[in-house]
Amino acid sequence: MRTEYCGLVDRRFLNQTVTLMGWAHRRRDHGGVIFIDLRDREGLVQVVSDPDNQDTFRTAEGVRNEFVLKVTGRVRLRPEGTRNPNLTSGDVEVLADAIEILNPSLPPPFLLDDENLSEQVRLEHRYLDLRRPAMQKNFMLRYRAAMTVRQYLDALGFIDIETPMLTKSTPEGARDYLVPSRVHHGEFYALPQSPQLFKQLLMVSGFDRYYQITKCFRDEDLRADRQPEFTQIDIETSFLGEQDIMTLMEGLVRDLFQKTIQVDLGQPFPRMSWSEAMSRYGSDKPDLRIPLELTELTDAMRAVEFKVFRAAADLKDGRVAALRIPGGGTLTRKEIDDYTAFVAIYGARGLAYIKVNDSTRANEQGLQSPIVKFLDEATLRLILDRTGAENGDLIFFGADRAKVVNDALGALRVKLGHEKGFSTGGWKPLWVVDFPMFEYDDESKRWVALHHPFTAPKDGHEAFLESDPSKALAKAYDVVLNGWEIGGGSVRIHREEVQSKVFRALNIGPEEAQAKFGFLLSALQYGAPPHGGIAFGFDRLTAMMTGADHIRDVIAFPKTQRAQCLLTQAPSPVGEQQLRELHIKLR
Ligand code: AMO
Ligand code: AMP
Repeated sequence: MRTEYCGLVDRRFLNQTVTLMGWAHRRRDHGGVIFIDLRDREGLVQVVSDPDNQDTFRTAEGVRNEFVLKVTGRVRLRPEGTRNPNLTSGDVEVLADAIEILNPSLPPPFLLDDENLSEQVRLEHRYLDLRRPAMQKNFMLRYRAAMTVRQYLDALGFIDIETPMLTKSTPEGARDYLVPSRVHHGEFYALPQSPQLFKQLLMVSGFDRYYQITKCFRDEDLRADRQPEFTQIDIETSFLGEQDIMTLMEGLVRDLFQKTIQVDLGQPFPRMSWSEAMSRYGSDKPDLRIPLELTELTDAMRAVEFKVFRAAADLKDGRVAALRIPGGGTLTRKEIDDYTAFVAIYGARGLAYIKVNDSTRANEQGLQSPIVKFLDEATLRLILDRTGAENGDLIFFGADRAKVVNDALGALRVKLGHEKGFSTGGWKPLWVVDFPMFEYDDESKRWVALHHPFTAPKDGHEAFLESDPSKALAKAYDVVLNGWEIGGGSVRIHREEVQSKVFRALNIGPEEAQAKFGFLLSALQYGAPPHGGIAFGFDRLTAMMTGADHIRDVIAFPKTQRAQCLLTQAPSPVGEQQLRELHIKLR
């Protein structure tokens, strides 16, 4: 039997005999003495085998990296000068009495402490990759984080109830993953994009406070903070309004960071309306570590000669905005060209700029720029005044539809802010509130829900659902941390007639509403209590707490950017017989 984890053997065990189980991390042959670093989930301990014990020594000679060993031996102090203060076991070593090889290993395809492994190799051999101490630490932290969440919610009377994985396709939001039904020819289940409607039904059922840490599935384009299957901390409560829910949920995030990584996120989290966030940062998830802000210029550009600015200012949904970069005058031509190429990804057709050499002269003498000759002195003066530009600064401009300007300058602000050392570091949480109910989708030429169609309008905004959907604000809130959206929720609609109005505003007719959401519309008519909730991205939270750049590093068996599992080779073709049973014929 094992008596202790390798990584936890320390001075407390001096002169005792221990039995350890672990993996040979490294074996060093020091002419006559063999050292084996034995590793388990808690860390390393040094095992020594000397030739006095012939049998054991011969076994030690045969040990290679990643062999699984059982070692029994006596704990002794390491000689002075060979102690390792970075290890819990660094003062001691285990002199082996017996070494048993429980299982040999093929030579591993990479060294576990190689820091520059390709993601491809890591994911193909994920079970080896996960042996690496850094990864073991990530998953220990993920587990502790989940426990903290459960304890916090349990103490407040929330109970965990499971909701189905095989459910109904409701193609609002992202694309569904579909599962064909064998029994019902030609019909499909969908994997849940979130438990949204089920948690609302649980409120109708009177459970009052629900939570679940559960998988969600979305077939969307993947990025550093997105996986096709990911985990939400999903929460719903009855009888609380927007403010009370936000207070409870903010407490959860604070508790999580405090107990898991001993970080105090401060109290209360600042709040900002969606429109202020868009106007100042061009983003609904602003990274507040970066102090740069956008400056509004649309109103001042309607009569200027420079056509790029005038045309954008004249658009119904146009915007002209500036981004002042303190000290940006040192940016090289090449850097400006690279940033211009960067904003093009977001649809920007250019990136006008002005270098401010002498802010007292609002003309070609004081300002260096390809566009100064198109702007009169009064306009240039206004630009300098509004941006607060000083000598040595550079001002970038975006002029286009507001969405393009916001996306482009918003992303530029973050990229340049990090690259040029403007970030203050630390932790900057933020509530973004007062979201619009709807945004106009140019592709489908209709209003779509900004959060989801079950979000309640602000008090007094119900009338806008019919008169002018663009004006309706929602009782919705997102939690943003350092530029990542870590959670989002809302107060829900709990009356059937309001829900029907929202469906109408979304151009979902009564028949379609009945077919897709009939069960919800019925439930709302059988005594649905006022309710609301939130869902946090658990992978994102964990990635932030471990310092990982990518949520793949906190998901045991993640998918690649192309939604594949390199370990199991999923997705993969299936046989004709299986398809036939499912009534499926491939095109
Ligand atoms: P939402 O769609 O905002 O809300 O999702 C909640 C949170 O889940 C995380 N998230 C993701 N994480 C990893 N990969 C993804 N593909 C992914 N998509 C979302 C984000 C996000 O903030 N039912 C509502 C919640 C509610 O209203 O209660 C919902 O799902 O951190
Ligand atoms: P042009 O007149 O097209 O040569 O553009 C003059 C300057 O304005 C160049 O620096 C362009 O990068 C910039 N520019 C062009 N279109 C836009 C736009 N939509 N938004 C911001 N800058 C632009």
